[in-house]
Amino acid sequence: MTVPMIILNDGVEIPQLGFGTMDLADARDDSPESHEVTAVGVAAAVAAGYRHFDTAQMYVNERGVGLGLARSGLPREEFFLTSKLGNGNHRPDDVRRSFEQTLTNLGVEQLDLFLMHWPLPTLYGGDYVSTWRAMAGLADEGLVRSLGVSNFNRDHLNRIITETGRVPSVDQIEVHPYFANHDSFAACAEHGVAIEAYSPLGHASVLNDPELVEIAHRYGRSVAEIVLRWHTQQGRIVIPKTKTPARMAQNIAIFDFALTVDDLAAIDALHKGEDGRRGPNPETFAWVPNADAPKP
Ligand SMILES: NC(=O)c1ccc[n+]([C@@H]2O[C@H](COP(=O)([O-])OP(=O)(O)OC[C@H]3O[C@@H](n4cnc5c(N)ncnc54)[C@H](OP(=O)(O)O)[C@@H]3O)[C@@H](O)[C@H]2O)c1
Repeated sequence: MTVPMIILNDGVEIPQLGFGTMDLADARDDSPESHEVTAVGVAAAVAAGYRHFDTAQMYVNERGVGLGLARSGLPREEFFLTSKLGNGNHRPDDVRRSFEQTLTNLGVEQLDLFLMHWPLPTLYGGDYVSTWRAMAGLADEGLVRSLGVSNFNRDHLNRIITETGRVPSVDQIEVHPYFANHDSFAACAEHGVAIEAYSPLGHASVLNDPELVEIAHRYGRSVAEIVLRWHTQQGRIVIPKTKTPARMAQNIAIFDFALTVDDLAAIDALHKGEDGRRGPNPETFAWVPNADAPKP
């Protein structure tokens, strides 16, 4: 199955469907055992046809992702690799140091897309602008092909664009049938920022929805396929995660059918407002790895 390419505002092309790697392993630790589990999952995803992989410093799995990709034997240019700056690395010196570690972990010399994982407006004196400038330095040196953000709402986007003049290529935000994220969505459209939907299946929360089950039945597809098609028909990039090889194959095989306008609208109508949100709210989220708090 061919995955369509999306052209970002900097001219970089990204496969519209990628593979989310968060928590493929049970533990977020730097152990060989966890990296092996991640590598096996990533290698299975490569075999299923995925060429776009989403990882993050805070997933503590970049080594496993790199291992899985290396085992495929495919050349580096075949893959589109995204990682994200950890919440503990927002100070400009830490941006560079941690980014270099990311390249080492993944076993690559350049990253395709580097995202600021969270704006953290209540930490670092509220200064995510200096962090963004430091990330821009990496792109200017050619170490990153495309530069974006994650979990940025309208105010966060407006601020970095106004203060630095540099528009992110991507905002990776929570979007799924139960949480439309309308305001961030509109702000991205106004600035020409591509939306990458994370937890595109609502972290599995939407998969038993009766209305989605009914639509899936009519098309002879799974609910996951229907939801991923709803995203991609509306132009979003998606990065579903699954540990299960049969589901990997299912999730990438969604480009040979189309939902009707009425069915797209019926899925739009499932939005539950804040009640539908599965992840933290970026306005208040202030978790830093190793801090005395549960992982997000
Ligand atoms: N930027 C951020 O702050 C942020 C936050 C969250 C996530 N993300 C990214 O987004 C990716 C995806 O998000 P997510 O992992 O939260 O959730 P998700 O992709 O919405 O859902 C994953 C869940 O759905 C199940 N699933 C997947 N495909 C299925 C299918 N065809 N049929 C039935 N069940 C299926 C998986 O089960 P099994 O694995 O058991 O098969 C897993 O329980 C992450 O891996 C990460 O890369 C980014």
